[in-house]
Amino acid sequence: MGTRQSSSSLLLLSLLFVYSTAASSFFDTRKVYIVYLGQHKGTRTPEEIHGDHHSYLLSVKSSEMEAHESLLYSYKNSINGFAALLSAEEASKLSEMETVVAAFPSETRRWSMHTTRSWEFIGHEERMMGRRRKRCPREQILEGNHRIWPESESFRDGGLGPIPRRWRGTCQEGDSFNSSHCNRKLIGARYYLKGYEAYYGPLNTSYAYRSPRDGDGHGTHTASTVGGRPVSAVSAFGGFANGTASGGAPLARLAAYKVCWPIPGPNPNIENTCFDADMLAAMDDAIGDGVDVLSISIGVNGAPPTYAVDALAIGSLHAVKQNIVVALSAGNSGPTSSIDRAFPAPVVLGNGEVIEGQTVTPYRLKKREFSLIYAGDAELPGTPANATGYAVSSGFLSPAEVKGKIVLCLRGLGMRVGKGMEVKRAGGTAIILGNSPLILQYIRGTKNPTAALVQAKTILGVKPSPVMAAFSSRGPNPIEPQILKPDITAPGLNILAAWSESSAPTKLDGDKRRVKYNLMSGTSMSCPHVAATAALLRTIYRNWSSAAIRSAIMTTATSRDTQGWPLRNAAGEVAGPFELGAGHVRPSHASDPGLVYDAAYSDYLLFACASSGAQLDLSTPCPKNPPPPAALNHPSVVFTTLTGTAATTRTVTNVGKGRARYHVSVNEPTGVSVSVTPRTLSFRRQGEKKSFTVAVSVRKSAAIVAGEYAYGSYSWLDGVHQVTSPLVVGFA
Ligand SMILES: *[C@@H]1O[C@H](CO)[C@@H](O)[C@H](O)[C@H]1NC(C)=O
Ligand SMILES: *[C@@H]1O[C@H](CO)[C@@H](O)[C@H](O)[C@H]1NC(C)=O
Ligand SMILES: *[C@@H]1O[C@H](CO)[C@@H](O)[C@H](O)[C@H]1NC(C)=O
Ligand SMILES: *[C@@H]1O[C@H](CO)[C@@H](O)[C@H](O)[C@H]1NC(C)=O
Ligand SMILES: *[C@@H]1O[C@H](CO)[C@@H](O)[C@H](O)[C@H]1NC(C)=O
Repeated sequence: MGTRQSSSSLLLLSLLFVYSTAASSFFDTRKVYIVYLGQHKGTRTPEEIHGDHHSYLLSVKSSEMEAHESLLYSYKNSINGFAALLSAEEASKLSEMETVVAAFPSETRRWSMHTTRSWEFIGHEERMMGRRRKRCPREQILEGNHRIWPESESFRDGGLGPIPRRWRGTCQEGDSFNSSHCNRKLIGARYYLKGYEAYYGPLNTSYAYRSPRDGDGHGTHTASTVGGRPVSAVSAFGGFANGTASGGAPLARLAAYKVCWPIPGPNPNIENTCFDADMLAAMDDAIGDGVDVLSISIGVNGAPPTYAVDALAIGSLHAVKQNIVVALSAGNSGPTSSIDRAFPAPVVLGNGEVIEGQTVTPYRLKKREFSLIYAGDAELPGTPANATGYAVSSGFLSPAEVKGKIVLCLRGLGMRVGKGMEVKRAGGTAIILGNSPLILQYIRGTKNPTAALVQAKTILGVKPSPVMAAFSSRGPNPIEPQILKPDITAPGLNILAAWSESSAPTKLDGDKRRVKYNLMSGTSMSCPHVAATAALLRTIYRNWSSAAIRSAIMTTATSRDTQGWPLRNAAGEVAGPFELGAGHVRPSHASDPGLVYDAAYSDYLLFACASSGAQLDLSTPCPKNPPPPAALNHPSVVFTTLTGTAATTRTVTNVGKGRARYHVSVNEPTGVSVSVTPRTLSFRRQGEKKSFTVAVSVRKSAAIVAGEYAYGSYSWLDGVHQVTSPLVVGFA
């Protein structure tokens, strides 16, 4: 499932990477490639599979030894393929073989930046958990595809039964990590580093653990958001967001697969560099270990050209084949939403004017009023003119000007925490971060400007909420515009969850604080909310396909805020499907969707054939004229480049109790008329399927603009359920 996220602060790291690629390729022309062979056929032992992969390498390498040494991973569980060090010519030779689907370079991915309140806010508890206890006592196994701080209270196992017998995973030992760190909650942990080390050389263990242990915090945060146990009286920085922190699926078993590592260099504290070869190994192992849900908060640097050369797509296809649900934060700028919690802290200017702000700083300032200065008026010579007022780098501010004062810095250009550090370095008392003309006017027009900061507090029930965060990425889907992405939106702003105790809450070198819980924002934080919802659904509906679970989550989402108005984005505009997907996740509704849009492994193969001519399974050749990508039975409908009329078909499966009669209600996109036929669907039993057609045509009177989109939706209603799909029309 595509959920969204972003971080401007990490862009620097990906730029560094591009630069070093160029530098290193000058010396060594070999790179790690993934050679994808499709499905495993028949039953072969791991040795036989390894031997087969070795023979591919022998066909392009000059010796047994060279073939042996070049192999990094042999994927043996579900994915048939291997990762190896190859030259471009060797890779191209392999990709031309008839039995090879594709050979492509192992690229880097990164997770995207930044829970007491979020679960209550999306209101899933009573109804869903009640259902689960009644119907199915068995808990689920999930994975966080990240590393873990095993001592966190969120991962204690009190009261959990024995590890399910179907679990085949392991607890891999390494630096500060041994088998006793796993328990009945954290039932597996592994790490993957060969792709990383082939590129950067041996991991520097003076700042990173060569083991599943989390030296960063991000993995612990996302894993505890999915499945952390309830821990009471938890808060960040001594009092903010105080409450009980609990994952969305607190009885789920967790397994961690660590695939992200630090880039050697200026800030090795950030472990956000993840190689395709390592991720594919982790996904293949997770499938083999028997996980039910994969939560992958890792973004993609630019869209791969086709699904056949997209490691995350290949891994997800194999997961889906085994009915494993994949929640993936797709794209570096994708949909996250806010929750109804704020930390207001007004600034009172010397003239009595009050400016509303937010903070999570617990410190009380010793006196009430301080001198106030604008960073742009306190800069040292050499500060670039175009960075005036931003305090982006160490050495920009003059200690003589700033000492003992509150400093107003502009937002944008560089990391917010970095600006705070610079104000601190120069001896400032506090920082006000914001592009407030009011404060600047006051400073400029006053002889001795002053300000007072009022102690912040946590306020719940903020309205309207949620709001789409500005950092969320937007559609249309760059790989295949005929399928709506993202699928869904979930809380991602100011989420409180467990943290690594070897990492500062801000991730800065100079920050010596250590915390057990931390506030983070980003689609990385939305993704585990969706994964947890999927895990709860998997517990209730053991035999549902992952498409059925995706459908239940999407068709029951809401595009309204807590007051019933359309959800808005940070700019105050009504948010559309390219921002929200189907809307904001509502777990309690998802547990009783009424109808689902199902799809099977073979449907995804057809979809890949149609979308990019990619034959992902060599035993299933692409038909001459596959159905168009838009025909995939997805719970949304997108028409691109519409001029006159167009139509597509969908099939729904009745998952309600038995007899049901649904009628359709359409919310037409502006300038488009929509007809759904038939308008009524009658079901006599559970499991029965019915198809219908959605036809659209541009209205004669409509003033449409080529390249623009219009948004609507259609819903199937039976008096109890409301099964809603977004409808997007792009004009040619
Ligand atoms: C695992 O490590 C802990 C310390 O972190 C130690 O107390 C324990 O004895 C070790 N267990 C094993 C089985 O090595
Ligand atoms: C490992 O990192 C430490 C601390 O940053 C540094 O002093 C050391 O030189 C690094 N070692 C290697 C082999 O790069
Ligand atoms: C958080 O709330 C709990 C219970 O309401 C209280 O006992 C605890 O002191 C609070 N913690 C902080 C840091 O405010
Ligand atoms: C500021 O100016 C410098 C030098 O001209 C340039 O390299 C840099 O990209 C500029 N930065 C921004 C944010 O415009
Ligand atoms: C799941 O099992 C139920 C009851 O055994 C059955 O009615 C239903 O059709 C099955 N659903 C799927 C998607 O196989």
